[in-house]
Amino acid sequence: MTRERIISGEIISPEEESFILSLRPKQLNEYIGQKKLKDKLRVSIEAARRRQEACEHILFYGPPGLGKTTLAHIIANEMKTRLVATSGPSLSRTGDLMGILTNLGDGDILFIDEIHRLSPTIEEFIYPAMEDFKVDFVVDKGAFAKVINIPLKRFTLIGATTRAGLLSPPLRDRFGLYYHIDFYPPEELKEILTRSAKLLEVQITDEAASEISRRARGTPRVANRLLRRVRDFVTVKADGKIDIDLARKALDAEGIDNIGLDNLDRKLLKVIIDYYKGGPVGIEALGATLNEEIDTLVDMVEPYLLKIGFLQRTRRGRMVSNEACRHLGVKLNQKDQPNLF
Ligand code: ADE
Repeated sequence: MTRERIISGEIISPEEESFILSLRPKQLNEYIGQKKLKDKLRVSIEAARRRQEACEHILFYGPPGLGKTTLAHIIANEMKTRLVATSGPSLSRTGDLMGILTNLGDGDILFIDEIHRLSPTIEEFIYPAMEDFKVDFVVDKGAFAKVINIPLKRFTLIGATTRAGLLSPPLRDRFGLYYHIDFYPPEELKEILTRSAKLLEVQITDEAASEISRRARGTPRVANRLLRRVRDFVTVKADGKIDIDLARKALDAEGIDNIGLDNLDRKLLKVIIDYYKGGPVGIEALGATLNEEIDTLVDMVEPYLLKIGFLQRTRRGRMVSNEACRHLGVKLNQKDQPNLF
């Protein structure tokens, strides 16, 4: 199983987290790209500020590494409120959530990452908190059971998910604002890289920044991670300045090809071609053949392959496109040609 995947959107270590934190924009006007989303967000923030109210509950959805957490922190910063962060899988007991909710002040933000992974019990508990700013706490058991109503301050819940489709409709309906975060075009990734290089005080040529942005699969977190690897490479192998040759060498050494695919991407495509004649094949079969968790494939690998048209999700399963075959330099038998377009 692949562990250290340089191009995955996931944060790998606490040390990496602090690296990412140091590059994270703190205000909306420092945030590069997602113009439409920023415009809408600016209006919501300004309206709430003028009314001196908490923002509506917000749901951010999209692939990992595109800025959902960063945006939550920016909103807190712009609203000058506190942000308390937690995640769906780590909220297992209602008591823990109760403690968090009752400690929130007026206008505070509760950020729940991976909100699609909340347990049903916690979800039920959260509904009245979101809707009426109260929680119903059951004390005692059986004939003595009593529901105690505890009022909460008017907080804002910001949820982040890679899979909006997995959110139960009642939870989804309790968000007032939904924002889809899409992959970034290379020009914006280049701007992000240039900004990061400046913050890291590393010199990079325009061409090298373009090269890294082309291989960063539309994802700022990947772009910054690649920049870091290239910076290490030039520190050891050259005088510290990143030029196009060094950028290419460093990225090739990491197994990242000229359009940003890594070993796992290529393996997934090759398995569909070699074992399943180009598809369709179910995700469970792919997970078993690749010895990878299905969630990893669905959240980390597939979104970009779908985005660039290398993979197609059909009702009968996944299929590779002719373009993917061309990129990998393989040819499907005529009778196995995927008929996608
Ligand atoms: N770092 C990560 N994402 C960013 C973005 N969208 N703008 C600026 N810096 C970033």
